[in-house]
Amino acid sequence: MGVLDGKNAIVTGAGRGLGRAYALALAAAGARVLVNDIDAAEAQAVAAAITSAGGSAAANTDSVAGWDSSRRIVQHCTDAFGPVDTLVNNAGVMRLTPVWQITEQEIDQTLAVNLKGALCLSRHALDVMLPRRAGCIINVTSGAQAGLTHRAVYGATKAALAGLTYAMALDLAPHNIRVNAISPVGQTRMAQATIEAGLADKPSWPPELVAPLVVFLASDDASYITGQVVRLAGKFLSLYSHPRSIHPVINNGGWALDDLQRYFKRTLGRCLEPVGQDQTQYHYYQGLGAPASAAAEL
Ligand SMILES: NC(=O)c1ccc[n+]([C@@H]2O[C@H](COP(=O)([O-])OP(=O)(O)OC[C@H]3O[C@@H](n4cnc5c(N)ncnc54)[C@H](O)[C@@H]3O)[C@@H](O)[C@H]2O)c1
Repeated sequence: MGVLDGKNAIVTGAGRGLGRAYALALAAAGARVLVNDIDAAEAQAVAAAITSAGGSAAANTDSVAGWDSSRRIVQHCTDAFGPVDTLVNNAGVMRLTPVWQITEQEIDQTLAVNLKGALCLSRHALDVMLPRRAGCIINVTSGAQAGLTHRAVYGATKAALAGLTYAMALDLAPHNIRVNAISPVGQTRMAQATIEAGLADKPSWPPELVAPLVVFLASDDASYITGQVVRLAGKFLSLYSHPRSIHPVINNGGWALDDLQRYFKRTLGRCLEPVGQDQTQYHYYQGLGAPASAAAEL
């Protein structure tokens, strides 16, 4: 017996990479899986792999990035298997661009797939989940949510997905619907692009290592977990801390410019947070001092 026997799942962007591994693992755990990807051949190949292994799957090729197309994805699941129990908002795109070279097209496309897609899919899935008072949504963030070089638009969408996860979890807990996010690391086409751009130095872990976390979060074993961002990087399983204000300093008369000039450095100035996913300390106490190579790019 699998931990997801009798459940119906949608995995977006499941034709390759991490989404493919999630779809295969969810099916192996007993779920019927709608394998969504705009790449039809890849989606069909994953669905065929599941059915030939004795599982239940169907392929869907609608884009997540539209209101009507995302509704069709949810409807496809209902028609093929029944109401969706688990939605994995995995589809994502990433371009590696210094922030001063970002184009309108990159902004529109990245927001549409990564953020609007997750919002639209979730909204339509909730039409099915709310009346049943059951369901689980898993969003996919990234280390880029905390800042990674040349990933401003991508990272902004991933930070937004973390915020979306917190807010949806609050709205939906009274309705018995859980919303979490994962921050995965896996060697995929997307990860390869960062290596080729010189922004990562080695291949990361196989996508299959992340898939058990998705199965676990989708299962009743995780019925006590909501509103969390769980990171899995090879053998390292961790939580992201929730953003919250820290080190409050009180000035009874309020904070005029003069007060900030006088007191910021000796209060909050001592506690400035490291900038970016890979940093462990704050680097700019002596001023920004851009290295010559970065200045030359401008
Ligand atoms: N690979 C990593 O290490 C890593 C790290 C952090 C986060 N992520 C996230 O994990 C998810 C999967 O990434 P991956 O590395 O497997 O990437 P990938 O490029 O290998 O796969 C992404 C899939 O999404 C599909 N897709 C793109 N636009 C779509 C759309 N509009 N509708 C439906 N499907 C669409 C693509 O066709 C592709 O098959 C993404 O959200 C990514 O941001 C990946």
